[in-house]
Amino acid sequence: MSNNRVSRRQFLNYTLTGVGGFMAAGMLMPMVRFAIDPVLQSKGAGDFVPTDQKVAELTETPVKVNFSFEQVDAWYKSDVTAMAWVYKEGDKVVALSPVCKHLGCTVGWEGDKNHPDEFFCACHAGRYHKNGENIPGTPPLGPLDEFEVEEKDGLLLIGPVRPNTLVKK
Ligand code: FES
Repeated sequence: MSNNRVSRRQFLNYTLTGVGGFMAAGMLMPMVRFAIDPVLQSKGAGDFVPTDQKVAELTETPVKVNFSFEQVDAWYKSDVTAMAWVYKEGDKVVALSPVCKHLGCTVGWEGDKNHPDEFFCACHAGRYHKNGENIPGTPPLGPLDEFEVEEKDGLLLIGPVRPNTLVKK
């Protein structure tokens, strides 16, 4: 009789361990998947958000356009309201982020009567040209970001934010 022979007790141990492990994995996998699911979900960053702004009514003068979207931060969902400065440059629709590139205050169009036709940040007198380019000698160190835009049924859709493409480098 060989010493390598598996006893009935060992065989049962191996079998029960294997089956038990398989069943445990079957129970744990859905729980693990559920727990990390929000992390695996795409964030919808490429989504375009509808606005009430009619594209035909846009002019060369920037106007405030508000938009709302659902923000998903892992397990936490919240409704966020944001704003863009939108105008037309020829046929092209431009949507600039109002977030100042100095310390993040909100810039306003023609916010300073001494500097018409500019975006102005009242926090530290930051100034930007209409295309979002920061004016040297004022605190902001970079141009305003730009939103991607689309049009659907005559209404403006605001997309993801990206670095300013209007400013010549
Ligand atoms: S935050 Fe806008 S100039 Fe400082």
